[in-house]
Amino acid sequence: MVAHQGGTGYENPFMSEPILQVTDLTKAFGDVMSVDGVTFDIQKGEILGLLGANGAGKTTAINMVLGIITPTKGSVTVFGKDLSHSRIEILRRMNFCSTYTQLPGNLRVWQNLKVFGKLYRVPDLPKRIDEVLEMLEISHLKNRVSGELSAGEGTRLNLCKALLNRPELLLLDEPTASLDPDIADKVRKVVSRIREEESTTILYTSHNMRDVEEVCDRVVFMHKGKVLFIGTAEETLHHFEEESLEDVFIRVARSGEIKPNRGKQKGEVSK
Ligand SMILES: Nc1ncnc2c1ncn2[C@@H]1O[C@H](COP(=O)(O)OP(=O)(O)O)[C@@H](O)[C@H]1O
Ligand SMILES: [Mg+2]
Repeated sequence: MVAHQGGTGYENPFMSEPILQVTDLTKAFGDVMSVDGVTFDIQKGEILGLLGANGAGKTTAINMVLGIITPTKGSVTVFGKDLSHSRIEILRRMNFCSTYTQLPGNLRVWQNLKVFGKLYRVPDLPKRIDEVLEMLEISHLKNRVSGELSAGEGTRLNLCKALLNRPELLLLDEPTASLDPDIADKVRKVVSRIREEESTTILYTSHNMRDVEEVCDRVVFMHKGKVLFIGTAEETLHHFEEESLEDVFIRVARSGEIKPNRGKQKGEVSK
């Protein structure tokens, strides 16, 4: 089991070869540098938060880790293997959930989970389907048509799909974006639980500072494709000389300011 200190002061006891290593990752769409020389790693059992305003490059970075987008430059190494050479082998041991991609809407919930479970060759699939539905507290939706679910229910179904194969590396792109505070809280607890119980390594993008404070061990702050800072929540506050991550987020989003905020009045957010 991995020691966990609620997002601050985290020291990973598994400091060895990282599960995910992203090096100088870059993606240009024409003139737009969506991701610009990004380097970070995630250790086994760690939850890393990828933060940044809309357009910062989070989804593009995640899509390169999934091999959906080919980098303009740089490399992605997962489980010690280069993604560009061992994509299928790596993807079998990973999974992914985004609020913005839905499962086929014409299938029932259990049918969707069966199809994806078979794709991942999940052993004992009927039992696992019941387990993940229970974990996300949507067992009662098992026979519903997926396209008729509410946004929050659909996101939870997507999370069920992402947990089916007990992924060693889980990528979550804004998993709480469409959820009410109660369900968002449940999702955060599930994320923390699977890390505790299965040492799952998780890359988590979010706009929700509460997600980050409660769930992530370290954060990578991105702005306009670049990494501004990597550290624990506490180190981030110290670096930016702010009192809350929300203040850091707003300041970075408005001005892209990357220097410590010397001289700022207590509690004031820079314009
Ligand atoms: N397929 C694409 N073609 C052109 N520009 C893109 C494409 N995908 C993303 N971008 C641009 O890259 C930047 C980063 O986008 P994205 O990775 O979606 O940011 P985030 O997930 O942080 O909101 C944005 O300026 C966006 O418009
Ligand atoms: Mg995004």
